[in-house]
Amino acid sequence: MQLISRWGKCAAIVMLAAAAGNAATKLTEADFGRMPDGAVIKIYSLTNTHGVQARITNYGGAVVSLNVPDRNGKMADVVLGFDTLPEYVANPTQYFGALIGRYGNRIANARFTLNGVACTLPKNNGANSLHGGDKGFFTRVWTPRALPNGDLELSYVSKDGEEGYPGNLSVTVTYSLTDADELRIDYSATTDKDTVVNLTNHSYFNLKGAGSGDILGHLLMLKADRFTPVNQGLIPTGELRSVAGTPFDFRKLTAIGARIEQNDEQLKFGQGYDHNWVLSRTGTGSLAPAARMEEPSSGRVLEVSTTEPGIQFYTGNFLDGIKGKGGQTYPRRSAFCLETQHFPDSPNHPAFPSTVLKPGQRYRTTTVYRFSTVAAK
Ligand code: BGC
Repeated sequence: MQLISRWGKCAAIVMLAAAAGNAATKLTEADFGRMPDGAVIKIYSLTNTHGVQARITNYGGAVVSLNVPDRNGKMADVVLGFDTLPEYVANPTQYFGALIGRYGNRIANARFTLNGVACTLPKNNGANSLHGGDKGFFTRVWTPRALPNGDLELSYVSKDGEEGYPGNLSVTVTYSLTDADELRIDYSATTDKDTVVNLTNHSYFNLKGAGSGDILGHLLMLKADRFTPVNQGLIPTGELRSVAGTPFDFRKLTAIGARIEQNDEQLKFGQGYDHNWVLSRTGTGSLAPAARMEEPSSGRVLEVSTTEPGIQFYTGNFLDGIKGKGGQTYPRRSAFCLETQHFPDSPNHPAFPSTVLKPGQRYRTTTVYRFSTVAAK
């Protein structure tokens, strides 16, 4: 009897690990370098049984590399980044692979009002505040913890008033690499005062491989009937506009470059695509498909699912040839971002889904990036 229950217990533990989908993922740790103040920064490698590998540093929580196979099994690193820590520290506003917070994307005029109190943020993008300010989460040293199941947990406590945001915010982000070739990111946060939160990851992808030319031939499908048009400063006007008949209609797989140069006011404002799409989803909070990207020559496919209501599709319009990993350069439009999020400037748009977090509540979102391949067409 006792033996059976022991077996039962053992089986339950195995099942739980299998249910997490990443029981076989190997997690290793190495030094990545030192911060100017001497703090040692680590880099973690998560490797699944197919050899798919994500390398993540606790500096800015950045995904440094992501190796996935093409249709012939040939691996390539599909995210932009740097080889060394000093390059990350010197180039924070590239946001390569980084965790973004407290607020992903822009807040107009670098201010918002919460419970009648005005909060003033750093202006780091013209008159606006972008990606949580000059010292947003992408510049922070996160506390790493290797979990027994092969996941990497990163935590950070953002102090009351940091970059203008109210409340002590305790944030935990868990990176998992599953045997279904998924990089899963679970975000969680609690606060001790009312605040706003909008966390995301700023990986720049090129499915041909980072540094292999432009992304205009990639084919994109977005599960969105509407997007949030912007003004010249890339702040949403508040309208939820139908994509029908516009270059923003990606409801069927379409080449990124097919319409990017059209004479369209919104494309001019973004200097290409740099907009938030309103995801068409049933219910809120459940993981639902958001985007599919196919790269015809390699056959690599990236599918994004999220619990979030929006996704920022950005075509690297402001990349300017910066030197990245392996001495390769990253010219304009040599990568795309698919940043899952609440809509930009939500704190100033009461009609948008709320980004307010209150004491006693838990902020919880999940995004999954799944890699696969398609046969040549
Ligand atoms: C924004 C772009 C910005 C980029 C910075 C994106 O999330 O939408 O406007 O230039 O981040 O790398």
